Amino acid sequence: MQPTLDHDDRSPSLSAKAVAEVLLSSDLLEILPDAIVAVDRGGTILQVNSQAQELFGYQRDELIGQKVEMLVPESYRREHHHHRENFAQTPKTRRMGAGLDLYGRRRNGSEFPVEISLSPVSTENGMFVLSAIRDISDRKQIEEELRRAHEELYQKTVEQLGESRSRLALIIDSSEDAIISKGLDGTITSWNKGAERIYGYTPEEVVGKNISLLAPPDHPDEISEILRKIARGESVEHHESVRVTKDGRRLDVSISVSPLLDAKGDIIGASAIARDITAQKRAEGQIHQSQKMEAIGRLAGGVAHDFNNILGIINACAEFLRDRLDPAAESSQYVDNIKKSIERGSSLTRQLLAFSRSSAIQPRVLDLNERLKDVGKLLRPLMGDDVEILIVSKAATAVVEADPGQLDQIVVNLAVNARDAMPRGGKFILETRAERFDEGFAEQHQAMSAGKYVVLAVSDTGTGMDEATASRIFEPFFTTKEVGKGTGLGLATVYGIVKQSAGHIMVYSEPGHGTTFKIYLPSADHKIGLETKAEVEAVIPKRQGTTILLVEDDEVMRSLTRQMLREHGYAVVEADDGKSALEWVESHPDPIDLVLTDVVMRRMSGPELVERLHASHPNLKVVFMSGYTGELIAEREVLKRGITLLEKPFSRTALLNTIHTALG
Ligand SMILES: Nc1ncnc2c1ncn2[C@@H]1O[C@H](COP(=O)(O)OP(=O)(O)OP(=O)(O)O)[C@@H](O)[C@H]1O
Ligand SMILES: [Mg+2]
Repeated sequence: MQPTLDHDDRSPSLSAKAVAEVLLSSDLLEILPDAIVAVDRGGTILQVNSQAQELFGYQRDELIGQKVEMLVPESYRREHHHHRENFAQTPKTRRMGAGLDLYGRRRNGSEFPVEISLSPVSTENGMFVLSAIRDISDRKQIEEELRRAHEELYQKTVEQLGESRSRLALIIDSSEDAIISKGLDGTITSWNKGAERIYGYTPEEVVGKNISLLAPPDHPDEISEILRKIARGESVEHHESVRVTKDGRRLDVSISVSPLLDAKGDIIGASAIARDITAQKRAEGQIHQSQKMEAIGRLAGGVAHDFNNILGIINACAEFLRDRLDPAAESSQYVDNIKKSIERGSSLTRQLLAFSRSSAIQPRVLDLNERLKDVGKLLRPLMGDDVEILIVSKAATAVVEADPGQLDQIVVNLAVNARDAMPRGGKFILETRAERFDEGFAEQHQAMSAGKYVVLAVSDTGTGMDEATASRIFEPFFTTKEVGKGTGLGLATVYGIVKQSAGHIMVYSEPGHGTTFKIYLPSADHKIGLETKAEVEAVIPKRQGTTILLVEDDEVMRSLTRQMLREHGYAVVEADDGKSALEWVESHPDPIDLVLTDVVMRRMSGPELVERLHASHPNLKVVFMSGYTGELIAEREVLKRGITLLEKPFSRTALLNTIHTALG
């Protein structure tokens, strides 16, 4: 159409009328590929070509002189009218209804999509419009197919992407490790369940914050150094460090960090995987500690042995000298002083030898219960009036094979320490009982082997001690007492004696909560024909759908206990102190059948937790567990008597039995 109009512009010699006539001649219109309908200003059809006849299914005569709207679907006619008027106002060659979907109407009433180009032609009698109409059904169909194909593809991709994303999220969330991503400036961008479990923060609390919130105050720059490495494209593998949890605990962690790249390959951040290795570190520490004790023991034993010989010589010489001196002479006083010093020296070397397990001992089969009765008498003057002494035998006999003098020494050394820890008086409790440990227990407590033991638990209601002190008390010469008050050999001696008797010693203590030492000596029942066969372990029935809330601040203890409970089929919810346990219960409607809780914990103690829980859950069953003995706890009135207390360390059978009984 365009060339025709151009032609019109450039050929003023041809009259407009003539042009119109030429244009309207059906011969000219026939050669055009599209259907052509010429319409005057009023919308009356002036001319059509045979393509138009074919497209719309009318004869030429049926069209000419009719309103063009007959070729438009009824629903569009009104609008078409407007379009026509508008076009007449600003006539110029253009596509009709650009951007709109246009439809034509066939004689049989069927409708089909069209594309229409309009060209105005001016004549002396006014303007008429040539419409070139093209059926675009095929194109529309192809477009539609393409669109659908595209949509399907998109849908599939989204689904697949969604699927692989949620799979990835599942994997990430089921990881025990913390998986965290962050920007190069340290801004946290993602935070998995493992991170929440390890560090205590929820994603809502930390995403958007800086990762440095996990840094320990003594290494504030470490994290930014790691990020600088990442920015240079380097990775950090299995870096061992310390991080601080939401509630201020320090954790040993092993961290691997690698750069996060965008689609172009630029480094945009870091992804870090951190594993809590606190328990592992602790176990390593214990091994180091026992190796150190071994080494110190050998050294001390060697020195003490030689030193003892030297003292022996000095002693012999002093004796000779004394024989040769007049007892009244002044110089004989010097000999007395030498003798006194030799005595102090040999008492020291005796202790060192005991610690190094190289003292000559005369073990006998004896009943510890009987022995304690005698030692008890010895203790009275030692402890002073304001200390109450309790001796509790929980087993009819407590037969062990040991050197009686050494047993006395254990009790006396522990008693002296207890007295020192109770400057304003208190209670000193000696308990004996029998206990049998199975293979499972021995596996978890590496140093101990399965079998029957006599337990001597020695408790006081004194000052207690912190973890740092408790971890060193068995070292020779470790003392917190003033110079001249303590040599630090008391517990080293106890340790040596216990080890020499093939026993074990454990300590439970918390500042302000007193101390319990537990000494396990192998039972010697078999030596006096009392050996009872290991009782056949009762099979403890499993219960389906029972949930236990396990509250314990010692991570290693908690994970061991959790494992034993889960293996027996209990569902376990864990918390690391009373406060988080309470928060958990308050924010989860899930029912809890029993709470198994430690007694002494930071922030909120076990008894306080139970009291609060009982307010809302009056039927909740409770089992306390503690390293302290039940006697000590009862004496301190931390717990009312008659409450179930499971003493640590406990065997799997003891744990499951206690829980089973408590559940009723
Ligand atoms: N019952 C206790 N309560 C609190 N702290 C204790 C208790 N027993 C031991 N300790 C701590 O352990 C440290 C070491 O004890 P140990 O008996 O080995 O040495 P000591 O009492 O200091 O000196 P020594 O026994 O040689 O006179 C003590 O200094 C004290 O800090
Ligand atoms: Mg001491």
